[in-house]
Amino acid sequence: MLLHLSDLHFGTERQECIQAIQTFCQEQRPEVVVVSGDLTQRAKFKEFLACRQFLDGLKIPYFVVPGNHDIPLYQLWNRVFSPFGLYQLFFGSLENTLVTEHFYLIGMNSIRRRYHTRGHISLEQIQHVDEILQKAPQNKLKIIVSHQPFYTSNENHHLKDCPSLGKFAIKEWGQHQLYALLHGHLHLVAVYDLNQEFELDLQQPVYEVHAGTAISKRLHKNMPNSFNVIHCDGSFEHYFFDEMRQVFVPKK
Ligand SMILES: [Fe+2]
Repeated sequence: MLLHLSDLHFGTERQECIQAIQTFCQEQRPEVVVVSGDLTQRAKFKEFLACRQFLDGLKIPYFVVPGNHDIPLYQLWNRVFSPFGLYQLFFGSLENTLVTEHFYLIGMNSIRRRYHTRGHISLEQIQHVDEILQKAPQNKLKIIVSHQPFYTSNENHHLKDCPSLGKFAIKEWGQHQLYALLHGHLHLVAVYDLNQEFELDLQQPVYEVHAGTAISKRLHKNMPNSFNVIHCDGSFEHYFFDEMRQVFVPKK
């Protein structure tokens, strides 16, 4: 099982959600925890530290990518000259790969200092990920993790945040058994098949999985806190925070 968290926004975290995730991990023991960006609210040292301590405390391998909140917004000097300085201090490289029992994870940095919220991927990144996919083990579910979604159906004002080369990238990666992409950013829960949405005529679906915010008070239109689970057979499950019981429960 893979646990997909997103948009933790440490600095605005809810302790009751943190505890519920700790309990979930102790009981379910996912093989990996993925966080698809926005680890912090304002890219502050103490926020990165709190996030790192939270993830280390789960005692489960974790895999993170940066979000647009993870580079400084107001400290212009740092934004220009060292936008990822604190992120890298706490989490190392911006783009990693990780192999687990059932999954092959590829992290992709879609954050650029010149954009406030918009996602960007380059031709070089597309080609690099394509090469990784071609060499990846055949028996794993191949999954790309990046912050901004490549597609959104109904929130049209967010379309501008999707990377402009997203459709082109899926057309390439979809030919090399890419199974799914995990994103955050919109604080909304959704699953799409990009083969259908982009009308690509690939041999198999390419799933686009959006996660809500797992622990932040910054909820979209009072949507509950949530996370996703990807099972070893590739099926998806969405969990929502139950305020009465103070636990995450799967959506029926
Ligand atoms: Fe974001």
